[in-house]
Amino acid sequence: MGQPASKLLLFGATGDLARRMLLPSLYGLHADGLLLDTLTITGTARSELDDEAYRNFAKEALDTFLPEDRKDAAAISAFLKRLQYQPLDASTLEGFDDLATKLGDISGGLAIFLSTAPSLFGPTIKGLESAGLAGPEVRISLEKPLGHDLESSCEINDIVAEAFPEERTFRIDHYLGKETVQNILALRFGNTMFEPVWNAGGIDHVQITISETVGLEGRAGYYDDSGALRDMVQNHVLQLLALIAMEPPARFDGTSIRDEKVKVLRSLRPITPQEAPHFTVTGQYRSGAVSGELVNGYDDELGRDSDTETFVALKAHVDNWRWQGVPFYLRTGKRLPVRHSEIVIQFKPVPHSIFAERGGMLQPNTLVIRLQPEEYVRLLVMAKEPGLDREGIRLREVPLDLSLDTAFAGTRRRIAYERLLLDLIEGDPTLFVRRDEVEAQWRWIDGIREGWRANATKPKTYPSGSWGPSSAIALTERDGVTWQE
Ligand code: BG6
Repeated sequence: MGQPASKLLLFGATGDLARRMLLPSLYGLHADGLLLDTLTITGTARSELDDEAYRNFAKEALDTFLPEDRKDAAAISAFLKRLQYQPLDASTLEGFDDLATKLGDISGGLAIFLSTAPSLFGPTIKGLESAGLAGPEVRISLEKPLGHDLESSCEINDIVAEAFPEERTFRIDHYLGKETVQNILALRFGNTMFEPVWNAGGIDHVQITISETVGLEGRAGYYDDSGALRDMVQNHVLQLLALIAMEPPARFDGTSIRDEKVKVLRSLRPITPQEAPHFTVTGQYRSGAVSGELVNGYDDELGRDSDTETFVALKAHVDNWRWQGVPFYLRTGKRLPVRHSEIVIQFKPVPHSIFAERGGMLQPNTLVIRLQPEEYVRLLVMAKEPGLDREGIRLREVPLDLSLDTAFAGTRRRIAYERLLLDLIEGDPTLFVRRDEVEAQWRWIDGIREGWRANATKPKTYPSGSWGPSSAIALTERDGVTWQE
């Protein structure tokens, strides 16, 4: 880990992410006393604002997005004093010198957060270099989308690498900042009981679901070019898979953990064009009701027809000794019935049931890791119903529950960006995605898209508020597996 940076520079400072996530997160860190008193935050974007106008912008964002119990007028006013603003058109080199002047002395370390259109990454990096803002005291973090396929991702990575070596490049996958995602490591490597059965001998299959109730949310331009596979699976879902499937790292540090994750990502069995119709399902939502509210279909929201998938379900395999023959069922989609992210580990049935001849039925154990909106780990185990068992033994599945909200009552649940921004400022790369990981992710995703192209795959429609096209159900049912709902 390096020294905490004494300056933070936000590109895209007037954007939606800054308003909804970055400014409230930085305020959260400030209010908890986690930022150096001397840390200044400089926002930059195209809008012609001055410092005062940007502070007003930030105040409005905090008023809108902070929970009521976090609004402390004195803390907000002290936080706003940290902010300054410099207008900049990042598509030209002009203006970067003025930005450097505004930043002043950066010898205490500068952390840059780039949340702009990827088309601006190249010019921005060049501008930073030309203004002396890419030296060894500077680290940079990049928000998605980092390309739309392996080739474009490599192009972006190459451009960034010209100015910033890998150890100063922090690629964001905000799922890694979520508390429960980090808890996967604590659960797996902080306990002895799971690891001995955490393999093809003990586990029947794994399910990973990220379901969302929202639709396009005004992001038509980006989303229609992307689709669910690239928007969610390429990054968040595959990172979850890697954490579930990785070997125990030797140490808790950025190199050891990412070394193990990348091995998993490289072991993903390519889905061939012949397999694509059997191992993948795509869907696009039509009108329907979500949480009792009528909503339009994707094509209506978009205002035209499109072949972009808003739902995807996949059957994946990790080709190594540990996971041979264990399917990983992955799915994600918009306008599904509920918002939740969840990992389900389905263990194997007991090898021999002593209860069968007494009428007792067994279910294999299931471990549910709920990432959001609630945060819990639930192990479903078999227990005997109380009674004299004169008509046979009655066994029932009961939950052993670890609710993080209850177990850690009184601790504030932080938004993912608080953790990630603090790690960026302090220079800890553990929860950021390394170049080789991103590239392994894209390689696997490109293979799937190639299959879709070869088969002229078009998404099947599904009503909003349903769990996607019926073929997503068939994808697992064929294997005798039911999606956990
Ligand atoms: C983003 C995707 O990366 O993650 C969005 O671009 C998606 O489409 C979002 O809605 C989901 O994040 P979260 O934290 O709300 O699960």
